[in-house]
Amino acid sequence: NTMLRNHTELLGFKPIPAADLLDEVVVPEGYRAEVFYRWGDPISDGPAFNMDASNSAADQLQQAGMHHDALQYFPLPKGSNSNDHGLLVMNHEYLDLDLIHTDGSHDHSPETYNADKVAKEQNAHGVSLIEVKHVDGQWQIIRPSSYARRLTANTEMTVSGPAAGHELMKTQADPQGKKVLGTFNNCANGKTPWGTYLTCEENFHYYFVYDQKQPRDADTERRWKRYRLGFSYYGWQQFDPRFDLDKEPNEVNRFGWVVEFDPYDPQSMPVKRTALGRFAHENVAHKIGKDGRLAFYSGDDSRFEYIYKFITRDAWDGTLGARHGRLLDDGILYAARFEEDGSARWLPLVFGENGLIAENGFVDQADVLIHARAAADIVGATKMDRPEWITVHPHTDDVFVSLTNNSERGSEGYPGKDAANPRNQNLFGHIIKFSETDATATEFNWQVFVLGGEGEGEQFANPDGLYVDDRGVLWIQTDVSSSVMNDGPFKDFGNNQMLAADPETGEIRRFLTGPIGCEVTGVIMTPDMKTMWVNIQHPGEMPEVLEKRGIVKSPQNPTAASNWPDHQPNGRPRSATVLITKEDGGVIGT
Ligand code: FEO
Ligand code: CA
Ligand code: CA
Ligand code: CA
Repeated sequence: NTMLRNHTELLGFKPIPAADLLDEVVVPEGYRAEVFYRWGDPISDGPAFNMDASNSAADQLQQAGMHHDALQYFPLPKGSNSNDHGLLVMNHEYLDLDLIHTDGSHDHSPETYNADKVAKEQNAHGVSLIEVKHVDGQWQIIRPSSYARRLTANTEMTVSGPAAGHELMKTQADPQGKKVLGTFNNCANGKTPWGTYLTCEENFHYYFVYDQKQPRDADTERRWKRYRLGFSYYGWQQFDPRFDLDKEPNEVNRFGWVVEFDPYDPQSMPVKRTALGRFAHENVAHKIGKDGRLAFYSGDDSRFEYIYKFITRDAWDGTLGARHGRLLDDGILYAARFEEDGSARWLPLVFGENGLIAENGFVDQADVLIHARAAADIVGATKMDRPEWITVHPHTDDVFVSLTNNSERGSEGYPGKDAANPRNQNLFGHIIKFSETDATATEFNWQVFVLGGEGEGEQFANPDGLYVDDRGVLWIQTDVSSSVMNDGPFKDFGNNQMLAADPETGEIRRFLTGPIGCEVTGVIMTPDMKTMWVNIQHPGEMPEVLEKRGIVKSPQNPTAASNWPDHQPNGRPRSATVLITKEDGGVIGT
């Protein structure tokens, strides 16, 4: 049985030590890590990055966004298995407001904030697409490229599925409820088997405000509270009224979706696929059933939120092409309920069933999907410890889910531990694995794969990014918060990192450590597994441990924590894609 390799064969590299505030990317002996694509680098033949962040909003529209997150590789030509030419597509999740403007200010008062700043902030969000090619032994970004593209918080998109055109989706600018401007807080992603990109809208609630002192109707109040609305990190509403809920109460219903677009067609219009439900989507992973119907798994990353699965109504015929996107418009969304005995069920979120009725506040199926969290509450799904990425093993079909942490588990007024969330005050997080007989199954078995801080081999905390490669290696990326990293109970884990796990033996080896203050999130390989790209997000986000040591970050000194990757004295830290290869040209991980 080729599946039962011994683990020294699956993981061949020598693990590296944890990094204690090193401002570099470190990989094992015999491997090379090169900075490939940084915030502000042009996607095509547009303007170069200015180290003092003086690029305009218009420049930013032609450059890599900030805060690189998940990425995917699409071979060129389309339909090939090319290992040396393709499209690299990635999310730009959010912003470091200390770094994006020249003055380092994230003050939103009228004296310092203006429409140009808002436009630049909106253009630094979204997705970027670059063309990459292996030429003369070196990977390059092709400039100019006719494929290169940015999606931002202002790109026109359509809405499809049950919520398209619903009353709750209509705004003054869009009385039909079918045309939305933009996508933001694009966390992780997915790829359909027909060759399109899926970007996931995660913490969309941090962009909208409303006057919480004003009385409003109980239904609206209940819905907004359930989606944790009320606080924004940004000030967009000052110059873009659609982010003011008092002026445009439905705009927020148009975010929190999975968005599909065809990377091979630069003119293609992105589509918000509402059948997959509205919540803080981390990523989306799929599995193909025996009869051709598909399952799409997605976690809602917030404390005590749920894991979901969407099963298509129709089968996929196995061919490529964006026309298959309509498979994402018809089907059933389920939420997971875990039992103490290791069994579990997928509970359907269907209007009229299981309490999803008018008496409980639902008007129709679109309402159930727009308020999927409230629907999952009613059917009795299991409240999880912040579900982050989900990945499907390409050979065994096992599903791995990272639960990153939940410090409130078991504290007063909150749910206590259960079998699937087995630790109160879950500081370090865990990974669970489930096994289903088919993608379309509505029952499954599950077990804890590893508890953070208690694994076999190198230790980690706060698992987030997950990816099983074609050899069956489970890559684990971590996101320890800068408020606790490199200190106290998190000291021994060091800087955020990426590890490789053997799903059969449970052995875990540390493969990569990131620079100071970063999170490691996003990993993809070429089909031959000889090229890997990994994203480094928010380097230089100030670890509190450095403040304890007297190192203070200020607008005048934004690089106190890190100035990776450029290491220029007047520079600033930049999220970036790192290219990883093996010096002998071999397969990554061996
Ligand atoms: Fe954007 Fe849950 O990480
Ligand atoms: Ca994440
Ligand atoms: Ca995270
Ligand atoms: Ca992040």
